[in-house]
Amino acid sequence: MNDKQLVALQAAKYVKSGMLVGLGTGSTANYFIAELARLQRDEGLKITTVASSTISAQNAHSLNLPIVALEHISSIDLYVDGADEITPDLTLLKGRGSDLVKEKLLAKAATQFIAVADASKLVTHIGQNFVIPIEVIPFAWQLAKKSLETIGGVGHLRPNAANDGFWITSHGSYVLDMKFDNSLNASDLNTQINNTPGVVEHGIFYDLTHTVLIAENGVVSKLSV
Ligand code: A5P
Repeated sequence: MNDKQLVALQAAKYVKSGMLVGLGTGSTANYFIAELARLQRDEGLKITTVASSTISAQNAHSLNLPIVALEHISSIDLYVDGADEITPDLTLLKGRGSDLVKEKLLAKAATQFIAVADASKLVTHIGQNFVIPIEVIPFAWQLAKKSLETIGGVGHLRPNAANDGFWITSHGSYVLDMKFDNSLNASDLNTQINNTPGVVEHGIFYDLTHTVLIAENGVVSKLSV
């Protein structure tokens, strides 16, 4: 069993019958989804799920997990998702894919949000290993980029896979991939990006995570603030 699978199985221990559970997106979240399906099949677990992406919804559906649509929920009991970076204060960088809007909605709506990852995701500051994905309304991208540059952002519109156009998220947004000066802490950066007109959402998950489970060489540790 690899570390991602191990940590996903640990997170599944937080799931109890009757819960509405948010499903994250990515390889670690997929192990969690598979474990929920196993618990439902083999141990009579009775839950309802809500997915953070079309791919996770399809995955859950194919495994016969009951799913409700995001527009029909007002809160959830538990959300489990991976991350691209995790800092010591449990700020996350997420959204390497195209689904950070739903991911952040579920993180905020959850009574408990558990981030799951292997130790390769631990960093000292947000933006250490990856650019910060910032979803922008397509017609606003130039103005949003200019505003973000005034707070120290450097970056560009993410190209599509064929490199002949721009990446479109599942919500029809463009993505600005930007780096920022390390002197801006995650709290300030979160506030400044939130305050930028034209920004739909961004990949800094500040003050949303309750627990982080990290697996390293077969051992799971729990981080809480
Ligand atoms: C998806 O948009 C991301 O936020 C993922 O949660 C993140 O990329 C983690 O992916 P892995 O679990 O595959 O590392």
